[in-house]
Amino acid sequence: MSSYTSIFVAGTDTGVGKTHVTCRILRRLREQGINAAGAKPVASGMQSVNGEWLNEDIQAICEAAGSQFGPELINQYRYKPYIAPHIAAAERGETIDMGVIMDGFRRLAARAELVVVEGAGGLMTPLNEQHTFLHLMRRLNLPVILVVAIRLGCINHALLAQQGLESAGIPLLAWVANYPAADTVRDIAVEESLGSRLNAPLLGVIPWSSASVNVEMADLVRLIASHEND
Ligand SMILES: Nc1ncnc2c1ncn2[C@@H]1O[C@H](COP(=O)(O)OP(=O)(O)O)[C@@H](O)[C@H]1O
Ligand SMILES: [Mg+2]
Repeated sequence: MSSYTSIFVAGTDTGVGKTHVTCRILRRLREQGINAAGAKPVASGMQSVNGEWLNEDIQAICEAAGSQFGPELINQYRYKPYIAPHIAAAERGETIDMGVIMDGFRRLAARAELVVVEGAGGLMTPLNEQHTFLHLMRRLNLPVILVVAIRLGCINHALLAQQGLESAGIPLLAWVANYPAADTVRDIAVEESLGSRLNAPLLGVIPWSSASVNVEMADLVRLIASHEND
């Protein structure tokens, strides 16, 4: 059995930088010699590229993990429209089944030392009529890395996310202060307000930068090695 825990990368919203951070984490772990796989079990929004329908997140995550885990392995449900996944699923006459996602996760986890799973939208994004991503995190029994986009409103969003995780009994492993917009000035007061209220260490402050630029991150390996799943 692997000595590292898999992790779930959740965000306070869509567009906060979950994929950006997931890919950074994957690259960092793989640079450190850890066979980390990425997963994007549910994705909505696809573009036609040379006649092939592709989802950006799935592509980015495949690439960040060295392309050794293909789209079929890292994703179970993908939809063309840029809309909430449970609505996209219903339009196709299907229902997203957590069991199918769990099976996919196990298949991937068997081939890797750990899996970094990216959610879709926020914590309460529905999967189907009964379940949200919070249920999936609970079922997967994974600790969460919460990506917060530093902008007006983010403190409220981050604290609501923390409360949601706490009430579902899901551990918050770390949080990330991400700057997804080009013209944003670093806001130390907001970072400190978050830091003193979120009950988890800061993994890193990610400035607006190209994915290939290295940024400071706390010792992720130590975090994922020290976490004990219940
Ligand atoms: N730190 C960053 N630096 C530069 N671009 C970023 C950063 N974080 C996010 N982005 C960009 O912002 C957009 C939204 O980020 P993304 O990771 O796709 O968010 P999410 O997965 O939460 O929807 C993408 O175009 C992404 O490349
Ligand atoms: Mg994404």
